[in-house]
Amino acid sequence: MVAAAMNSPDHDKLPGHVAIVMDGNGRWARQRGLPRTEGHRRGIQAVRKVVAGCARRNIARLTLFAFSTENWSRPKAEISTLFKLFAAGIRDNLKEMGENGVQVKFVGQLDRFGAELGVQMRRMEEETAANSSLLLTVALNYSGRWDIVNAVQRLAASGCDCTQVTEQLFERELAVPPADLVIRTSGEMRLSNFLLWQSAYAELHFCPSLWPDFAEDDLDAALADYAGRERRYGGIGTAALPEQEQACG
Ligand code: IPE
Ligand code: IPE
Ligand code: MG
Repeated sequence: MVAAAMNSPDHDKLPGHVAIVMDGNGRWARQRGLPRTEGHRRGIQAVRKVVAGCARRNIARLTLFAFSTENWSRPKAEISTLFKLFAAGIRDNLKEMGENGVQVKFVGQLDRFGAELGVQMRRMEEETAANSSLLLTVALNYSGRWDIVNAVQRLAASGCDCTQVTEQLFERELAVPPADLVIRTSGEMRLSNFLLWQSAYAELHFCPSLWPDFAEDDLDAALADYAGRERRYGGIGTAALPEQEQACG
């Protein structure tokens, strides 16, 4: 099943855009009697593996939820360690992103970060700009509601007559396009203000592994789950159609 998802020539069964809510770092650490920040450190190693795994599986686009607008409510010490880990993670993985053909972009309200992380983010975007195998978008200080309001503001600022706006025009202003598959780790079954508009017709996959433990097997299980889904978009599905109607399309 897993091998079929990986090697299948039927690219319709491979999600073009995978998005992940990387959750469970704190619980991973707590289970081991370690500080939460150790969970975050291990979480960054899991990011490295999943990015390489998606590149190998010819996934075109991967969006990772790394820090939500609501995560500012955490203790200051956790937040500042997290940002230091992000900056180090970017610096240490720059070369590997290039080797895997990964282009990296950061989205969210990025002006609230300190100089060190800001410099590393810009550097990674610039140095990976020409890569084209996998587009990795890292959502930082991001929320789905912010993305929607930001799109409205961008439209208004462009002089657009908002009474004439269409879904297509609106969608172009969002930070991230619609997702095909949204994965959330750690067994939680909610979006936590991630891609609200973009998940409208995404397939959802909830995985019990805590994010630092998320491995290629978990990625393959999610891809196999997706491959087995029928995306009906409000229709009745091909299985329900009589043969003649299927032939007429
Ligand atoms: C996800 O793991 C990482 C971030 C939100 C930054 P958590 O830190 O939320 O881990 P849990 O949910 O407390 O286990
Ligand atoms: C969602 O996880 C945010 C990220 C993974 C970056 P949270 O741990 O913040 O979500 P809640 O608080 O459990 O909903
Ligand atoms: Mg959490």
